[in-house]
Amino acid sequence: MLFDQRIEELRREIARHNQLYYQDATPEISDAEYDQLFRELEDLEKANPHLQDSHSPTQRVGGAPLENFEQRKHLLPMLSIDDVFSEDEIGDFYSRIQKALNQTSITLTVEPKIDGVACSIIYREGALEYALTRGDGTHGDDITQNIKTIHSIPLFINKAPPLIEVRGEVYMSSAGFSKLNEHRTEEGLSPFANPRNATAGTLKSLDSRVVASRPLDFLAHGLGSFEGIQIDNEDDYRDLLDQFQIPRNQPIWHTNSLAQTIEAIRELDIQRHQLGYGTDGAVVKVLDFSQRSKLGFTSRAPRWAVAFKFPPEQVQTRLRDITIQVGRTGVLTPVAELEPVLVSGTTVSRATLHNQEEIERKDIRIGDTVIIEKAGEIIPSIVKVLKDKRPLDANPYQLQVALKHQCPSCGGPIQRLDGFVAWRCSNFTCPAQAVTRITHFASRKALDLDGLGESISIKLVETNLASSPIDLFELTIEDLSDLLLDPAKSSEGLIISKERRFGKKRAQTLLESLQRARNDMPLHRWLFAMGIAQIGESAAKELARLHQNLQELSKSQIIADLADLPDFQELSKSKRKKENHPRLKDYQIDDHLGPVAAQNLRSFFASEAGKQVLDRLNDMDIDPQSENYAPDPQANSEGFPLAGKTFVVTGTLSASRSEFKETIEKNGGKLSGSISSKTDYLLAGEGGGSKRKKAQDLSVTIINEEEFLALLK
Ligand code: IVH
Repeated sequence: MLFDQRIEELRREIARHNQLYYQDATPEISDAEYDQLFRELEDLEKANPHLQDSHSPTQRVGGAPLENFEQRKHLLPMLSIDDVFSEDEIGDFYSRIQKALNQTSITLTVEPKIDGVACSIIYREGALEYALTRGDGTHGDDITQNIKTIHSIPLFINKAPPLIEVRGEVYMSSAGFSKLNEHRTEEGLSPFANPRNATAGTLKSLDSRVVASRPLDFLAHGLGSFEGIQIDNEDDYRDLLDQFQIPRNQPIWHTNSLAQTIEAIRELDIQRHQLGYGTDGAVVKVLDFSQRSKLGFTSRAPRWAVAFKFPPEQVQTRLRDITIQVGRTGVLTPVAELEPVLVSGTTVSRATLHNQEEIERKDIRIGDTVIIEKAGEIIPSIVKVLKDKRPLDANPYQLQVALKHQCPSCGGPIQRLDGFVAWRCSNFTCPAQAVTRITHFASRKALDLDGLGESISIKLVETNLASSPIDLFELTIEDLSDLLLDPAKSSEGLIISKERRFGKKRAQTLLESLQRARNDMPLHRWLFAMGIAQIGESAAKELARLHQNLQELSKSQIIADLADLPDFQELSKSKRKKENHPRLKDYQIDDHLGPVAAQNLRSFFASEAGKQVLDRLNDMDIDPQSENYAPDPQANSEGFPLAGKTFVVTGTLSASRSEFKETIEKNGGKLSGSISSKTDYLLAGEGGGSKRKKAQDLSVTIINEEEFLALLK
């Protein structure tokens, strides 16, 4: 392949993986594999400088996360603007400058005040040299790595003066903000309160890969320091920005009297709702730079500018009901159903309540009279409840009680995990989660179904061929071969072929892997594929060690005992031992399987949805068996020479760590990541210094590969 083709391919792949990792939270490759792609691209670009492109992910993502931000001095102080809240005060401002300039008519400009985060960008000899936050006005944080991830900011500008400092606002569009919060809600994370907070929070990130994944944008609205050019007024500066292709703040009104200025502010208040990002005022500035210097500065703000702040429009309405949306990852999001009202230019009848915690914090109850506004002037939200208007019979709202502990989409069990604010439906056959669940079910570490990635899952669900992973086992060769896919597109977005079908060959491959999943995949892979919270690969293996099949699991005394143990997190170390339980102590259950996982499993099998899953699998004759069944590690030690032994692996060995892991586990042992007094053996290859030292300190037996093989005999 030609270098330029490979470079293009790598750029596309890396952008796709960034999206999968940060936006969709469904990474397809490990961090190490990602780094490898990234390094390959960096090397190719270095070797082929003529193929450099400022849009390449290597230019836009700074790579390694920073330890902290360096502080730097601003070339010129970054001042604030005085706020005013009435048209009368605009009149006062106008009279002041008339007097100071000794002129009746002065040209002013009126422009939106963007609700974002101020930033200064230094271009030296055309290249983006560094970028700073406002900080305390004298010194700011060096956020160059983060600013470079914003695609609309050029990294080089043509025909540039030796120095030019562009000042402006980093912001997030309303659409980008909504999407970001949707994703966060889906992941069970707290949403950002408004686009400004999301922007500020993002810019504070030391990892520019996080920043690159967030929908930040930039608009220039001011000029800082410059050398080697003549700029007489802000119109000249705006022409320069256009020439440099730096995005700038719009719309702008030019006015020559107080009346025109007020007229422009009013007009802006109407138009700003169409901008697609938050604005909270109008900035009024003197156009001409020589007039500006005559007016000068106070200690904190220029005398030639003023910001007219628009009051956030707050409106009263009634909360009719709270409904629950089931997201594609099973997160249950409460939504306020409101009496429709007009706020900042649009009718609002719904507002997200984010999660149970938020409802409790604001004490929101059905029937309440509430005040709503648009966060960042865009997204409707409930500001507060008017408690004196509360109906007598309004009770505190509890999502889990209102739902009777059942998912509104499928009746599956719901649960809230430690450390998360969101309640989730955990049923792997929930139709609202069909795409996510099928994609996970088919993934490599689950049932490894060939050719069934997210885009095919989407098509299967869209065409009603599958609404849950179990439906996959009923697909026919015709269903799959004829499945219509999206048109193929070239890198420029042109449609290459319109009619694309899954095709017979891929259909056959997929059916074969479904056959393999049904007949040969062991119980632990099925358990992992079911995506029950807290049941990852290791917990699934431990469950399969203790149970022969799903039937046994669904009636398990071990699970019942474990589920009834108090939560680990709540207990001191000495009390939480499973060994203290009269029945559990015989099983020597490892740390991957705790009470919470057991509770989740128990409620799944107890739910209607769970029972249906067992029945359907039964009807289809699918009965996955454990391949590592050995409930009593002592009694079974015969066929398992490493039973009960814990290993740590270090240094360079003849095979990969995961191959050793497999061998150890197959023979009844366990592999741990770090050495403790509980470790039985350190299997050490060449190198591996620190672990070797620790093993010596703790008197852990150190063995080489030969000695390891001898243990297996
Ligand atoms: S001009 C001397 N224009 O508002 C300051 N500022 O409250 C001249 N801001 O720190 C700034 N939109 O970051 C200007 N169209 C606009 C603006 C704007 C937002 C921010 C700016 C400044 C803050 C002052």
